[in-house]
Amino acid sequence: MVSRVIPVETFDLVIFGGTGDLARRKILPGLFRRFRAGQMPAQSRIIGAARSELDTAGYRQMIADAVAEFGGDESNDKKSLQDFLDRLDYVTIDAKGEGGWATLAGLVRQDVVQAFYFSVAPSLFGDLAERLHTHKIANAKSRIVVEKPFGRDLETARALNQTLATHFHESQIYRIDHYLGKETVQNLMAVRFGNVLFEPLWNNHYVDHIQITVAETVGVGGRGAYYDKSGAMRDMVQNHLMQLLCLIAMEPPSQFGADEVRDEKLKVIRALEPVEPHHIVRGQYDATTDEPSYRNDAENPRSFTESFIAMKCHIANWRWAGVPFYLRTGKRMKARSSEIAVVFKDLGHSIFDDDQARHRNILSIRLQPNEGMDLQVTIKEPGPGGMRLIDVPLDMTFAEALGDDAEDVTDAYERLIMDVIRGNQTLFMRGDEVEAAWGWTDPLIVGWEARNDVPKLYDAGSAGPEDAMMLLHRDNRKWRDIKV
Ligand code: BG6
Repeated sequence: MVSRVIPVETFDLVIFGGTGDLARRKILPGLFRRFRAGQMPAQSRIIGAARSELDTAGYRQMIADAVAEFGGDESNDKKSLQDFLDRLDYVTIDAKGEGGWATLAGLVRQDVVQAFYFSVAPSLFGDLAERLHTHKIANAKSRIVVEKPFGRDLETARALNQTLATHFHESQIYRIDHYLGKETVQNLMAVRFGNVLFEPLWNNHYVDHIQITVAETVGVGGRGAYYDKSGAMRDMVQNHLMQLLCLIAMEPPSQFGADEVRDEKLKVIRALEPVEPHHIVRGQYDATTDEPSYRNDAENPRSFTESFIAMKCHIANWRWAGVPFYLRTGKRMKARSSEIAVVFKDLGHSIFDDDQARHRNILSIRLQPNEGMDLQVTIKEPGPGGMRLIDVPLDMTFAEALGDDAEDVTDAYERLIMDVIRGNQTLFMRGDEVEAAWGWTDPLIVGWEARNDVPKLYDAGSAGPEDAMMLLHRDNRKWRDIKV
């Protein structure tokens, strides 16, 4: 395979929260992969900054361990790993005080691309942003990267946006939603806008409904305290599922540019109708003989927080009027499986006598695992016996279709960090997008809180509560199976 890796410009990347979970699990192992792939120029540096009293040697050891644990087979390449570690520095920093800032100022160069990754609690964003300026570390071209949760409602998101805007221009702010960095999520855009086949059918004349499912098998144990204040709506729907919805529903942008794409996504969010309370089903997983219930995991015996949510949404515009978008996501479900399914309408008229069953074209895009696409088409059942019809999949699993090239697929974080260095904001959320998303979610949350809605229990390892099935049954529709 011919390598298509194009090195980025030389950079200094400072990771605030450089000893944290995200840095050790995702950011540093991802950067090591990019380094091994030849994308990180030799003079680039990565500077971990955190509260822990560590020296650079201690930090390098910590990251060597993290790469060994989370970096897959690549960590066996000891020579590359050593070269990579040589590019790491560490500064003990006090986000709210003055400790460490002068040292950091001495390390960060002004003549290379500068990126500051705020992998810390949002309450520290303002302190970091301010000190980066008072110590003359950041400049007008620096980029800052922030993670979700970006606020917990419209008000807090606005406040965060204002804090960041005091110190940085919007073109310098990279708000990560790691779903946008997933290979197949970007494929959504390639499929829609790179083929002549789908776009003519992509509207309410031909599409019956769309289903978006993000099912996980993990529970919330270990992060119950955070999750219980958030729930599936804030943790998954307001960001990841809404981003998927936007990419599926948006109008074609005039070009694949950051603002062109984000303008179109914003229009989708703004066109989302409020969701009727009876079109929302919230659930909590129950205990099994071996595993604790949600309330146990969350350590809150009276929790009303949802670990599952299903909802029926509508987009009020010409393209999608009358087409339901069914969203669902949950923890401790029967399989880890994320998919978007575009279910096309029935034929207006069938010419086949024997055609009793309902035959439908369904385009499903599998986000994970087993990334790929599958188009259900109707054909004649093979053999004698007349014209009987069956539905078969035209299945393309990317790993098989792309062969060796599939191995080149980068993890979401690696891709997004390299995009930060390239200065490409297409796969990052703009401030107005995040605010619009909260503007839509807030009243739904306020509504169920005011009604004191109690989430329905569901069996761990199932497809969610019975009421979620009913949400579609009532419309004479059916959820797709959750399977690997
Ligand atoms: C995170 C959520 O943003 O996404 C987690 O906070 C969730 O609760 C995770 O498990 C899912 O990400 P992925 O990439 O495993 O689908």
